[in-house]
Formats: sequence, C-alpha cells, structure tokens
Amino acid sequence: MTREETPADAGGNPAAEEAGVSSPHDSPEHLAVIMDGNGRWANRQNRSRAEGHARGAEVLRDMTRWVRERGISQMTCYALSTENYLERPREEVDFLLDLLARYLRSEREELDRLGICFRVIGRTAELPEETGKLLEETVALTKQNRDLVLRLAINYGGRAELNDAVTRLQNSASGTQLKDCLYEPEMPDVDLLIRSGGEIRLSNFLPWQTSYAELHFSPVLWPDFTEADLDQALDQYSRRTRRFGRLPAWDSEAQ
Ligand code: FPP
Repeated sequence: MTREETPADAGGNPAAEEAGVSSPHDSPEHLAVIMDGNGRWANRQNRSRAEGHARGAEVLRDMTRWVRERGISQMTCYALSTENYLERPREEVDFLLDLLARYLRSEREELDRLGICFRVIGRTAELPEETGKLLEETVALTKQNRDLVLRLAINYGGRAELNDAVTRLQNSASGTQLKDCLYEPEMPDVDLLIRSGGEIRLSNFLPWQTSYAELHFSPVLWPDFTEADLDQALDQYSRRTRRFGRLPAWDSEAQ
C-alpha cells in the first residue's frame, strides 16, 4: 500500500474555505485511534501475527508520546474488540492479553512520569483476573495525572456499551440520561478518529462518542504508522469544516 493520499484522506474543503465557512482550527481535544493492519504487516514480511501485534504495541507507545507532545488531551485506542475477543483464535487473544500485561508492567512507571492518566473501557470484568488487576493498578497509579488521558478499549464493543448502558439506565433514578450510563460518562466526544490499515469503516468503535467526529482513514498499516502520518491527519483535521448541525456562517448571516 502506498503512502499517497486516497480520496478518503483528502482533507480541508477549498470551496468552503474560499467562501469563508472554514477556518483553520485547533488540534483535536480527543483523538480516537483504530490501530489496524498488524496482521497484514506481519504477513507481508513473512512474520507471525504475534510479531505484528508486538510491533503495533511499540507504535502505540510512540504514538502516546507524539500525541502528548502536541498538547492533545485525550486519546482512546482500540486494542481489542469484543468481536476480536470472541472470534479470534484463543492463541492470538492470549498473546494480545500477554502483550498488554507486558506493556503495562514495562510502561506504567513511565506513563506516570510523563503525567499520563491511564484509563480503560470495555467489558473488563470478563478479562482474566491477572489482566484486570494490572489494569486497575495502572489506573490507580496514574489517576492524578493531567497531561494526557490515554484510554485503551479492551474487550470493547460499541453495541455492547449501549446495551450495558440501557441495562444500567433501567436500574437508575428517573431523569438519568443514557449518556450518564456509558462506561465513562465524562469522556468528551471524539473530535478526530484515525483508522490505519486502509479499511474505511468504524468497526463498532465508540458509536455514541464519534457521532460528530471527523474521520481520517490512512492506508498505512499500523506497525508502519509514523509521526508524519499523525501530522498529516492533524493537518487535514485543522482544515475541515465542523458545523455540528448548524448552518455555515455565510448562510446564517443571510437570514
Ligand atoms: C488489528 O490488526 C489490531 C488488533 C486486533 C490489535 C491491536 C493491538 C495493538 C496495536 C497492540 C496492542 C497493544 C497492547 C498494549 C495490547 P489486525 O490483526 O486485525 O490486522 P489485519 O487487519 O492486518 O489482519
């Protein structure tokens, strides 16, 4: 796959910019990332899928630093979906859980030192006890940090989150909103979602929170994703017109 821009990548809106409805805006506050392509990367290099995931975890580590340096305050990454958890061979799921455990053990002090607040969303109660314990310890260790919220979605599915929220809502006081029953009610909406690996879909990731997100689909396989690829996504985001259902300025002024 080349690094050339695809139509789906095309950022900005020159016509809108000319008409004065789009102006460069700030970096996203909340970035969501679908880290896709580990398997294909491995396949192309005659390596095992496990090696692809291991390289993917290194890129996640680097990405966290690039995002923090750019002043983005929240990043949520799809590490394991409920569908992956149920449908992938047990061996691959076990490898990913083991990789997560190694990542948490080797990274948590550094996350804390960098002022990163680690959080997790998903059906974590279904994970092995040891994984759950490591996740809880890392969340507790870093919970006072403010430089970046790094949230991993593990055994996460958007429909599962909505189903769980409805169950919680039914047992809540009257007046409670569905949003209050999501895994993290205080999580801000996603501003920009990046998916690597060339697929153009959302795969059940954060359906509630991405309702108004700008989408960036990169052809680059996740293990090859670089700081320049992140900057390309941010640059295109900065030139998008965000309206949230409102009329563009030139149209509302004409009323
Ligand atoms: C999709 O690639 C990726 C995953 C299912 C796992 C994503 C996980 C990582 C990037 C590393 C996770 C980090 C930790 C800390 C656990 P794929 O296997 O579906 O790739 P393919 O579409 O090329 O087959």
